[in-house]
Amino acid sequence: MNDPDDKSHSSTDKLHRAYHAKNPQETAEVYNEWSQEYEQHMRNVGYTHPAMVTGMVARHIPPTEELVLDAGAGTGVMGEILTALGYPNIIGLDASTGMLKTADLKKKYIELKHLFLGKALDFEDDTFALVVSSGVFTQGHAPLDGLDELIRVTKPGGYLVFSIARTYLDGPFTDKRHQLEQAQQWQFVDASARYNSAPLEDTLISQVFVFQVT
Ligand SMILES: C[S@@+](CC[C@H](N)C(=O)[O-])C[C@H]1O[C@@H](n2cnc3c(N)ncnc32)[C@H](O)[C@@H]1O
Repeated sequence: MNDPDDKSHSSTDKLHRAYHAKNPQETAEVYNEWSQEYEQHMRNVGYTHPAMVTGMVARHIPPTEELVLDAGAGTGVMGEILTALGYPNIIGLDASTGMLKTADLKKKYIELKHLFLGKALDFEDDTFALVVSSGVFTQGHAPLDGLDELIRVTKPGGYLVFSIARTYLDGPFTDKRHQLEQAQQWQFVDASARYNSAPLEDTLISQVFVFQVT
């Protein structure tokens, strides 16, 4: 009998391994191994985060030549879409060098940096007009404290558009967003409805948020 909770042969096997990573290096290793097959696997599961995040970008931020940061760029799926939508000047960061190498082949990023969300980011204050993050703020991936540095590197009046997975929704993210609102670091602009980010294989509920840096 197949165990319905056994994801070891599924397209999201690596994702479930990353969810249980004990530290950021372990997460990065899972993605290093996965980088060649990642996009095919994500297509198999009907991966929806990039469409949801770029959809919310297009709803609120007109096309711009200003600098955009793709935080947790992975293999560059967001770079491909954002460039086509009129946001051509993108810098990407990711914890996995393997994912960054694959992203580099797409030639959609001005620069790709090996950096970890949750640690200090090697960018000046107020560098980006827009920060996007698709499928990164979830269990075993980026901690919510990574948002502090993303706010620091965003210009006043600039936007953050990112997905938040169910594991953070309601409890931890509600606390974090209110803390940042009370500290007048950002203000809420919009949120999507909740959606499944892997609807052909799994039930991974998430929501996209748009905040403006104050
Ligand atoms: C599900 S993939 C999403 C990639 C891309 N944004 C997309 O939507 O296709 C998650 C990515 O986040 C990266 N990641 C996980 N934890 C991270 C962290 N703390 N800092 C930076 N990147 C991280 C992984 O290496 C991986 O490339």
